[in-house]
Amino acid sequence: MILFMVIVALLVAYFIGHRIFVHRKTFTGTAKLHGKTVIVTGGNTGIGKATASAMAARGGRVILACRSKQRGEEAAREIRMETGNENVIFMQLDLASQKSIGLFAENFLKAERRLDLLINNAALASPGLTEDGLGMILGVNHIGPFLLTNLLLERLKECAPSRVVNVSSCGHDLGTIDFDCINTHKKLTLGSSDADLFRAYTHSKLCNVLFTHQLAKRLQGTNVTCYSLHPGSVNSELGRDINEWKTRILKAIVRRFFATDPVSGAQTTLYCALQEDIEHLSGRYFSDCQLVQVKPEARDDGIAKKLWDVSEKLCGMN
Ligand SMILES: NC(=O)c1ccc[n+]([C@@H]2O[C@H](COP(=O)([O-])OP(=O)(O)OC[C@H]3O[C@@H](n4cnc5c(N)ncnc54)[C@H](OP(=O)(O)O)[C@@H]3O)[C@@H](O)[C@H]2O)c1
Ligand SMILES: *[C@@H]1O[C@H](CO)[C@@H](O)[C@H](O)[C@H]1NC(C)=O
Ligand SMILES: *[C@@H]1O[C@H](CO)[C@@H](O)[C@H](O)[C@H]1NC(C)=O
Repeated sequence: MILFMVIVALLVAYFIGHRIFVHRKTFTGTAKLHGKTVIVTGGNTGIGKATASAMAARGGRVILACRSKQRGEEAAREIRMETGNENVIFMQLDLASQKSIGLFAENFLKAERRLDLLINNAALASPGLTEDGLGMILGVNHIGPFLLTNLLLERLKECAPSRVVNVSSCGHDLGTIDFDCINTHKKLTLGSSDADLFRAYTHSKLCNVLFTHQLAKRLQGTNVTCYSLHPGSVNSELGRDINEWKTRILKAIVRRFFATDPVSGAQTTLYCALQEDIEHLSGRYFSDCQLVQVKPEARDDGIAKKLWDVSEKLCGMN
């Protein structure tokens, strides 16, 4: 009897977990991208690679903006082979270095005439500091894409209607933003245990959502729109630096039971990038190809504005 109840409880937990974590919708839009240019940051693996590949299959010119030349060129070659689209190229971008971001933008703006879609996909959950002395997670997941987006904004405006898409995470819901910590330590949290890294990751993903909110306001009237999203729970390399034994067990369970492949993880990104008639939802957050309302803190005008100002300071923009 007890065994029976345990089995029933496990099955119920499994189905509920599955409903919550696993995304099933497939983007079915038929939009083509011939003559359009797309940047996908972190396009060499995981969700980014699946996104880049789908964009290439639709005929777009796709720039894989990655930190590793070897991994980036290899992925570009694979996507060219897979899709038959020769317009897939690698360009070096290390989001942990403001110098590299500046160089990328300079090279890109010189070499390319258009920018129709900027997909801020790259992120990590690793310890350490960026080249500029910021916490790695704050730097790569938030400040880097902030600077990149701003450096490319003029080109996006010239090519309007154009879009910026930010791959955030449902984890943003657990995030809070401690401005004292950012101002004093240039980090989102202190410490380097798995729990600290996870916390910093959720905070950084909250920054993504807040930024989309603020950016949408600043872009009113330009025909450039922006969206943030949760891609679903996906087997990728994301947790590579989260490795204490307790979290390893958790990771293994999630991977085995509650995660899908990067292709399904790319569907909501494709939706935000390509779905027609969502321009009036600029600044909002999506999950499983649907609009989702975020918590009040993630759409608070005051916090979003303050974060924008702090971020400008941290990348020397003002
Ligand atoms: N997987 C999930 O379940 C899940 C859930 C919620 C949200 N997300 C979000 O989905 C997005 C993609 O994640 P993923 O799961 O596909 O992770 P992933 O497999 O780890 O891919 C992350 C990509 O970001 C790149 N990257 C890391 N640091 C970088 C830097 N300093 N400069 C440039 N690129 C850098 C990586 O490059 P290297 O290959 O060189 O390391 C890699 O290409 C992230 O924004 C993540 O937060 C994922
Ligand atoms: C994406 O996130 C970055 C960093 O949080 C931010 O600077 C940028 O404005 C965001 N873009 C969009 C479209 O949300
Ligand atoms: C935005 O798009 C609309 C409809 O296509 C157009 O009428 C308007 O002039 C555009 N505005 C700008 C600033 O490009």
